[in-house]
Amino acid sequence: MLNIGIIGLGYWGPNLVRNFSAAKGAVVKCVADLDEKRLQKISSLYPSCETTLDGNGVIERSDIDAVVLATPIKTHYELAKKALLAGKHVLVEKPLATSRAEVLELMEIAAQKNLVLMVDHTFLYTGAVRKIRDLVTSGEIGDLHYFDSTRINLGLFNPNWSVIWDLAVHDLSIFDYISGGKRPNAVSATGIGHTKMPIENIAYITLYFDDNTIAHITSSWISPVKIRKTLIGGSKKMVIYDDVEPTEKVKIYDSGFEVNSAEEMHKWLVDYRFGDIYIPKLEQTEALLGVANDFVSAITNGTTPVSNSESGLNVVSVLEAAQKSMQAQGALQKL
Ligand SMILES: NC(=O)c1ccc[n+]([C@@H]2O[C@H](COP(=O)([O-])OP(=O)(O)OC[C@H]3O[C@@H](n4cnc5c(N)ncnc54)[C@H](O)[C@@H]3O)[C@@H](O)[C@H]2O)c1
Repeated sequence: MLNIGIIGLGYWGPNLVRNFSAAKGAVVKCVADLDEKRLQKISSLYPSCETTLDGNGVIERSDIDAVVLATPIKTHYELAKKALLAGKHVLVEKPLATSRAEVLELMEIAAQKNLVLMVDHTFLYTGAVRKIRDLVTSGEIGDLHYFDSTRINLGLFNPNWSVIWDLAVHDLSIFDYISGGKRPNAVSATGIGHTKMPIENIAYITLYFDDNTIAHITSSWISPVKIRKTLIGGSKKMVIYDDVEPTEKVKIYDSGFEVNSAEEMHKWLVDYRFGDIYIPKLEQTEALLGVANDFVSAITNGTTPVSNSESGLNVVSVLEAAQKSMQAQGALQKL
């Protein structure tokens, strides 16, 4: 049995406690938070789990094999580094850190010490995203033309980071996964804030690639409606992924277009094809349990996690460039 220590019991941490308690081969030995009330709540639900106000204490305990971090983004790098140097396997909540340089350093320490460093990109463990990856990587939708994702609602503002570090991280990790790690060569982003906080609460990111794929992500904390919709266009088929839909989250459209070459440039003929719409059956297991099981398996069996540090690096690299671009009113940042 692996002894797990979980640090951070705010909005997301309790979900990790619940899922690691259900994971095979692991036990949540102790949890830490700076807030006594949050510790008491976990204690009442999991009486055998020890609690402490001291996160560093959890990292230093010799009977802890792995540490899970669900603390604010700005603390990820420092706590993860401490945990790795203390010989612990580490699972960090998304995003893995606040810069590419930080992620690379953490990856280097993990490699040197032969430890697992994983990030929680939760959506990679959903039936919907797995299905879409199959559709893309098997070639069923043809060449990937576009990925257009909207993730907006009246969200919880965070004074420490802009909306892209909270919401676009999901879309970027989904793109990275379904495309098999396709790397953009440049990013451009615009965004703006409407409060006294120096952060953007609405943002638009565009990713460019060496081929003719394009990806666009809209993130907002100031929308009156909740939209979680991604369109994925291929040369053969198109997919709509609507995460707000309770059951029919993925719809595959056997639709497309074909441009027939004409003798003269201005006489192009575009043929449109409207075919069947197919709704696949999706796996229904809780994504976060998949994350917990994958982390445990990586430690005990040496498997490579789906949401691995490379995926964390790809996502943080784009976020960092997008943040720079936003501050320069959309100036293209080469990657
Ligand atoms: N995977 C997902 O879908 C998902 C969803 C929400 C949040 N998150 C991620 O989870 C992380 C936490 O987000 P949140 O919304 O739960 O934040 P939060 O502010 O609600 O909770 C953070 C908690 O960490 C505690 N904390 C901070 N520093 C600490 C320390 N040094 N030692 C012990 N406790 C400490 C705070 O007291 C607080 O209770 C972020 O990285 C966020 O991006 C992931």
